[in-house]
Amino acid sequence: MKILFIGSRLYDDIDYYVRQKGIDSILTESNEEAINLDLPDQVFIVPRGMDGPKQIAVTQNVDAIVPLIGIDPPLIQVAQMKEELEKDYGIPVIAANVRAVELTSNKINTKKFYADIGVATPEYQILNSPDDLTLGFPVVLKQGEGQGGKDIKIAHNLEDVNDYFEEYSYALCEKFIEGSEISIEVLGYNGEYVALSPIYKGETTLEGTHPLNKVKLGPSLIDGLDNNLIQHVAYDVARNLDSDGIFEMDFMYSHKEDQLYAIEVNTRPNGTRYLTSATCGINSLCELINMACGDFSLKNIFDKLEYYYSTEIPIGNYHGPEVNEPKKSFDNNDFVVHGPEGYQRITIRAKSKKELENLINELI
Ligand SMILES: Nc1ncnc2c1ncn2[C@@H]1O[C@H](COP(=O)(O)OP(=O)(O)O)[C@@H](O)[C@H]1O
Ligand SMILES: [Mg+2]
Repeated sequence: MKILFIGSRLYDDIDYYVRQKGIDSILTESNEEAINLDLPDQVFIVPRGMDGPKQIAVTQNVDAIVPLIGIDPPLIQVAQMKEELEKDYGIPVIAANVRAVELTSNKINTKKFYADIGVATPEYQILNSPDDLTLGFPVVLKQGEGQGGKDIKIAHNLEDVNDYFEEYSYALCEKFIEGSEISIEVLGYNGEYVALSPIYKGETTLEGTHPLNKVKLGPSLIDGLDNNLIQHVAYDVARNLDSDGIFEMDFMYSHKEDQLYAIEVNTRPNGTRYLTSATCGINSLCELINMACGDFSLKNIFDKLEYYYSTEIPIGNYHGPEVNEPKKSFDNNDFVVHGPEGYQRITIRAKSKKELENLINELI
């Protein structure tokens, strides 16, 4: 089995798994200074874009392509490549298709999609000027594209909205939801979908603190909110996207209204994966490889499912005990450290809440 991976930044997460499965690995990367270039069997430095990877996939006769791209902008090119290579060469590309990327990479398209399939999302309007505003404060102002809280502002009054329009020519304006943030990863391949454990990412704040900077818990255990409901809605969204790979979805739960709202979908590897993997034993990046090898099935997922309590804590720089090999996996670890220096996070798991508390105290 020969797989072409695109992008080296996440490759150290799966290197052990590629070796374990005896896969011949080829990797393309556009930055010759990038990390992890020493890990795959073969590396090709190519210009940005998908022309290089496409050419290498064909000339090297690979069996499948697994893009490891954790940012939004290239996803549409990857999707176009998927359609071309699958149709013309029969090489599967384990990624979202064009329709799914178009619906999810723009938050305005996503809102319309939710409405079409009957999934609740916070009330919103598109503002072309501050005068268009009819929703009551506070509201959340966003751009169609962006991740990690980029270009997002919580407006408490008209002055805030005016300030936002100093910088932007329009806004997706959403009702501010007071409540809990939840993420969930759904895996999909060949029309089969499975929703993994819902993850709790903290309460929304009027300052708009992004979940990246909060302590998170898996599984989500929110009073009054059934995890089956979250999984069911997530499954429904993924089924309607009708595509392959990873779907990470953000939801909010308003305690006051007892309502679950869908916020956004990311069709790519994402930061929730460590907590998902800690909590239920399924590593979404490894499953992309299983999809490529024909080893992904609901039965295989259900056979592997585990149940742990886990947490993820931003720690800056880790100074605790050594992590076992493979370092980015829970196979031989009950904690994993990840993220760039200065912004590291630790994900810890245990069989009970009490054990988890003890472990947290030991490690940080
Ligand atoms: N309607 C909302 N109500 C309350 N907080 C929100 C709302 N929309 C976004 N936020 C806050 O902003 C963060 C980022 O918003 P999101 O739409 O997920 O964009 P991004 O792609 O940048 O993650 C959310 O995780 C949440 O903390
Ligand atoms: Mg988000």
